[in-house]
Amino acid sequence: MYVKYFLLFSILVYNLQANDMRALLFHGNCTTCHFENKTVSAPSVLEFKNRYMQAFKDKEDFVSYMSTWVKHPKEETSLMHDAVKKHGLMPELGYDINTLKEISAYIYETDFTKHHEGHKD
Ligand code: HEC
Repeated sequence: MYVKYFLLFSILVYNLQANDMRALLFHGNCTTCHFENKTVSAPSVLEFKNRYMQAFKDKEDFVSYMSTWVKHPKEETSLMHDAVKKHGLMPELGYDINTLKEISAYIYETDFTKHHEGHKD
């Protein structure tokens, strides 16, 4: 019985478009503090994405550095010392590294200046 439900659930999850899942993870976990285009209590997504893009042209490096940093935010490895000074260091959220890699890849691929999946306003 449980096995049957588990299979059904797995099939449902598998059929979710990969990008819908990433959009959900990002919007559910990051946009409470990071507005997409405006800096309020934390730098906007656009701002930190641009900063990371300047440092890492390659998607793999971008995703790897961002997910590792978000896993354990540290001032020494921050690319945004100005933001740390202004807002205080980002708290550790306790997500696993694979989830953070999915979220970072979504940030890399999404154009936040245009309408995109999961955006509400
Ligand atoms: C509780 C509020 C909060 C949440 C939730 C949050 N952040 Fe942050 N984040 C901050 C603040 C404040 C800063 C600016 C200070 C800093 O860089 O540490 C920041 C900075 C960052 C930076 C810049 C890092 C650097 O080099 O300094 C990245 C990248 C980032 N956040 C990604 C994310 C991602 C991805 C998520 C969702 C998984 C997320 N944040 C969720 C508050 C938050």
